[in-house]
Amino acid sequence: MSEKSIQILLVEDNPGDARLIREILREAPGLRFDMAVVERLSQALQQLEEKLFDVVLLDLSLPDSQGLDTFDKVYARAPQVPVIVLTGLADETAAVRAVQSGAEDYLVKGRIDSELLARSIRYAIARHEKLRDTLESAGTYQRGQVLGFIGAKGGVGTTTVALNVATILASRRHSVILAELRPFLGTLAAVLRHTPARNLSQLLTLDPAAINQRELAARLATLASGLRVLFGPQTAEDTADITAPQAEAIVEGLASMAEYVVLDLPWIPSEATAAAVRHSDYIGLVLQAEPDSLAAARVTSHFLRAWGVKEEGCGLVVVSKALVGDTLGLKYVSEQLGLRVVGVMAPAADLCLSAQLVGEPLVLHQPDSIAASNLSDLTERIIARRSMGL
Ligand SMILES: Nc1ncnc2c1ncn2[C@@H]1O[C@H](COP(=O)(O)OP(=O)(O)OP(=O)(O)O)[C@@H](O)[C@H]1O
Ligand SMILES: [Mg+2]
Repeated sequence: MSEKSIQILLVEDNPGDARLIREILREAPGLRFDMAVVERLSQALQQLEEKLFDVVLLDLSLPDSQGLDTFDKVYARAPQVPVIVLTGLADETAAVRAVQSGAEDYLVKGRIDSELLARSIRYAIARHEKLRDTLESAGTYQRGQVLGFIGAKGGVGTTTVALNVATILASRRHSVILAELRPFLGTLAAVLRHTPARNLSQLLTLDPAAINQRELAARLATLASGLRVLFGPQTAEDTADITAPQAEAIVEGLASMAEYVVLDLPWIPSEATAAAVRHSDYIGLVLQAEPDSLAAARVTSHFLRAWGVKEEGCGLVVVSKALVGDTLGLKYVSEQLGLRVVGVMAPAADLCLSAQLVGEPLVLHQPDSIAASNLSDLTERIIARRSMGL
């Protein structure tokens, strides 16, 4: 597996300085990166809301904010992202104070070379990871975002999409919990070749009021990618109804334990699924571009609306399973359902199978495949609440 490119947000209002930083980064040996550049604090805060960054390079003097205040606002918005302050010689004091307040490092402009910058970035990311663990265990996080995935019908690829979206977020160093919130056999364990010691079913014997962080944490498994998983029931005996208050307690409990909760929801409508949907910040409706899938998606989208899902909080994920056979165009599907398409997944039967054989999510098993790139694009769009331009 090749090293992921580091996602950098550069906040710098001087175009000359921004250009220089980019050149210096390009010269850094072995550093792969993507960089977004913004000039104002307001734009930086917006970017941090919409996109996933590994590190922020922050000039403290911006047109709409000055000094330590600039750092404080960025840190308040995204404490999970490490910040390196860029400063001129004149305002080194503010930079030192920023480091005292939580910035990982500061660098003096004009004295930065590629080795220094690359090392500072790598250290900042590594150090911040520790801090994030502490934040997490102290429960300091605000409520995480809940992203729910529901299939138009069975077998369309809902679990595949949910697992890969969760894995992508986790591999971006976010804290993520994937939950298989269904009353009957969960398929994730087989897909991941994992034998969970505990699963959802033991939570379903509890009163909703008793479903707290401790009870939830005891049922989570942690995968090699760092992704935590609440597996669904595993045996016939495990099969148990989920009540709406239990579903609500589980979703909200998990949301208090991670930055992102990804729900793999069953397609059959129920009170529990309705409750989980109501507590989701975004719903991905997964379907195939085929007439039967479209007919089923009409029914599902009807339920989603009845459960209070708004058009802007929902997107279609269109999975294509065979090179031939998809009969309906994306635009047609979108118009028919009155919902926007947030992503597609190219046919990947062989890749899905070979990933399953080793128990790895497709995006880790074949990161350079078209399907993996589709999945990471759709994750980005969901986080930014953007749809595909059709
Ligand atoms: N893009 C794709 N191309 C080909 N096959 C795929 C694709 N995505 C998923 N599959 C395969 O389709 C099958 C069903 O996928 P998955 O289990 O994700 O669907 P589901 O909607 O969650 O099903 P269920 O209703 O059982 O929960 C799996 O064998 C999976 O590997
Ligand atoms: Mg499934």
